[in-house]
Amino acid sequence: MKKASFPLRVGLIGCGNISNAYFHGAAPFADYVRITACADLDPSRAKAKADEHQVAKVCTVSELLKDPDIDIVLNLTVPKAHAEVNSAILRAGKHAYCEKPFSLSTKEGRKVLALAKKSKRQVGCAPDTVLGGGIQTCRKLIDDGAIGKPVAATANMVCHGHEHWHPGPQFYYEVGGGPLFDMGPYYLTSLVTMLGPAKSVIASAKSTFKTRRITSQPLNGKVIKVETPTHLSGVVEFANGASATVTMSFDVWQHHLPLLEVYGTKGSIRCPDPNTFGGEVELWTEAGKEWKKIPLTHSDQTGRGFGLAEMAYSIGKHRAARMNGDMALHVVDIMEAFHVSAKAKKQVQLKSGCKQPKALPAGLALGRVV
Ligand SMILES: NC(=O)c1ccc[n+]([C@@H]2O[C@H](COP(=O)([O-])OP(=O)(O)OC[C@H]3O[C@@H](n4cnc5c(N)ncnc54)[C@H](O)[C@@H]3O)[C@@H](O)[C@H]2O)c1
Repeated sequence: MKKASFPLRVGLIGCGNISNAYFHGAAPFADYVRITACADLDPSRAKAKADEHQVAKVCTVSELLKDPDIDIVLNLTVPKAHAEVNSAILRAGKHAYCEKPFSLSTKEGRKVLALAKKSKRQVGCAPDTVLGGGIQTCRKLIDDGAIGKPVAATANMVCHGHEHWHPGPQFYYEVGGGPLFDMGPYYLTSLVTMLGPAKSVIASAKSTFKTRRITSQPLNGKVIKVETPTHLSGVVEFANGASATVTMSFDVWQHHLPLLEVYGTKGSIRCPDPNTFGGEVELWTEAGKEWKKIPLTHSDQTGRGFGLAEMAYSIGKHRAARMNGDMALHVVDIMEAFHVSAKAKKQVQLKSGCKQPKALPAGLALGRVV
């Protein structure tokens, strides 16, 4: 394979809501990646983003895939298109970096990984929030033994859905949506980053409300059918012996649950919101006996684009990216296992695995990757 010449040129497919976060987030990593082309099923969206962010080329998806000047394609399409678009990117001989979730099933995710292997290209996936200062500081505390041996964790994303604010909330209630596939990747990727791979899941799942009434505009008053579980609770066992209680819900009005905490033999960590790059980290230890705010050991100034840049750097180093497809598939496997376990009413042993991603060094400057 020819030597990567930095910055790698990135073509973006899917110029919707989240694309701005990538245009801004990739900017500090300009030594590694530059977004040089964009495309969308809707050409007017591609044109609008190109104008807003001074992107040199606006084209169709097929033109972008054929473009010899593109090294990596950033796939920011909707979840149900992720696997198909990733496959097209890999078949075109380019590397793919995708928004979460990696796929809607392990079956389609495995096909993408097989294609990546065959084409000798990398496939990476969000959420790269785990590379931010918040989760990396928690990871360092765990690696440094601040809480002893990890015993347990809890992860809770609990709310009353998105139909009161999102302009088009139907997809949240369709198969492949729900709180787990939408938000689970942030929490589960954080747990895998901090604790390593999981080995089993036992869960229950239900849809408390069979229909949802949209109260946001422009669809105010429209009633939509709920086609996927909207309240899931389960226990995920990790290979390192820790177990996590996980609740993902669109059925709860209010609560006092922590977002994400890790408990060890000598103390506890309160982690920040895993859907952010920074946030507050608190540590309680048996020796100190009080909660203490821990200054972040890693930069919280990063944004979406870090994972993409880290993958570009990894391509140059001929190593797997931290946010690689194996880990993304493992997270899909955990999420799928919630549904399978709830249906079968029994524990599911996971078939996939992944390496715990290497921690980032403390003090890494913004815009740098190692
Ligand atoms: N919006 C957010 O706040 C947010 C945050 C984090 C992650 N995400 C994730 O980012 C992804 C995109 O979300 P969004 O909110 O930007 O969605 P969006 O609906 O605003 O944008 C998706 C864009 O992709 C285009 N598209 C869909 N299928 C395509 C295809 N096959 N080929 C080319 N273009 C296609 C659509 O035309 C649209 O412009 C999702 O996976 C979502 O989970 C979104």
